[in-house]
Amino acid sequence: MSKSFFLFLAALIVTCSPQEKPETEQTLASAYQDYFYIGAALNTSQYNGTDQRGIPIVKKHFNSITPENDLKWDRIHPQPNRFNFEEADQFVEFGEKNDMFIVGHVLVWHSQTPDWVFEDENGEELSREALLERMENHITTIVTRYKGRVNGWDVVNEALNDDGSLRESKWYQIIGADFIAKAFEFAQAADPDAELYYNDYSLFLPEKADGAVRLVKEIQEQGIKVTGIGIQGHYMIGGPSGEEVETSIKKFKELGVVAITELDVDVLPAAFQFMGADISMRADLRDELNPYTEGMPDSIKQAQIDRYTEYFEVFMRHRDAINRVTTWGVTDGDSWKNGWPVSGRTNYALLFDRQGNEKEVAKVLMELPSKK
Ligand code: XIL
Repeated sequence: MSKSFFLFLAALIVTCSPQEKPETEQTLASAYQDYFYIGAALNTSQYNGTDQRGIPIVKKHFNSITPENDLKWDRIHPQPNRFNFEEADQFVEFGEKNDMFIVGHVLVWHSQTPDWVFEDENGEELSREALLERMENHITTIVTRYKGRVNGWDVVNEALNDDGSLRESKWYQIIGADFIAKAFEFAQAADPDAELYYNDYSLFLPEKADGAVRLVKEIQEQGIKVTGIGIQGHYMIGGPSGEEVETSIKKFKELGVVAITELDVDVLPAAFQFMGADISMRADLRDELNPYTEGMPDSIKQAQIDRYTEYFEVFMRHRDAINRVTTWGVTDGDSWKNGWPVSGRTNYALLFDRQGNEKEVAKVLMELPSKK
């Protein structure tokens, strides 16, 4: 064998040998960079620097962030004349430092909002005018502080019942149906360039989706900006199907941008026959509701991979309208699904395991775009 032929063979072996293949540095964000942002909901420990396991995952895999709790009324505006910006400031700084699309969650909601918001100093219910003024002050103060820095706001969260009618929240009872339009008007005035969303759960239900379309259309027709609809996406391996989700996305595309804002796929037995994401619904812990404390069986792992894949195939088909897909948390250990609707369960709803490793489902999702 001539020396050059031998060298050629050796080079061929080295080139083709699998061990020599460079480690792929693929990440969720890079896999979808031509289509939409990949976001995560973060907790205080991830932007104040204490979560040494979670932070590298966030920096590597995500290019959009939402605060899981720190911008909610009870955290950022706990008393009538006291705003607490410390954590929210850290959150926004973290997003800016890492060049991320920053989402503000949430300005007006019926949950995680203190009772005093709806009452005067004597504990009497506020008038419509007084509550509108309080709402305007809250929205203007926060949106102005982060003007040009927070890129998109969930302006109103969960104003609809599952049948598409308006929820009888305090906001609705005191102000009336136009509290939603007013909230968007105040947010738009404070930062005309920010994206402004209506956000809700169970929007795959046709009646609820139609209610959201009616609601948003009506506001847009008044010349008030609503960028689009945020689909929370708190799903389960049992459903909804990709097709059900897709049907609602098709309806929402007509109105503007669609964002998937709080995606997770619960793998545990359902505590209720029908479950959305109403945080006031709770069930007691029973053994049969918590079957995988020692790990996820293979069949359940596969069922979760199949569901996530089905959803991402739908998101890719509608990538012209979808600008962001955000998971509600980083690792399985952080997920709110360990505590809701039953506290103390071991759930596996997200894309990274409790040790911070990429789950098989994350790998499958990273490969999905290149298979198209
Ligand atoms: C949840 C948080 O994840 C929990 O930490 C908190 O205790 C309750 O709220 N829909 C929403 C989110 O819009 O704000 C909720 O977040 C989950 C349901």
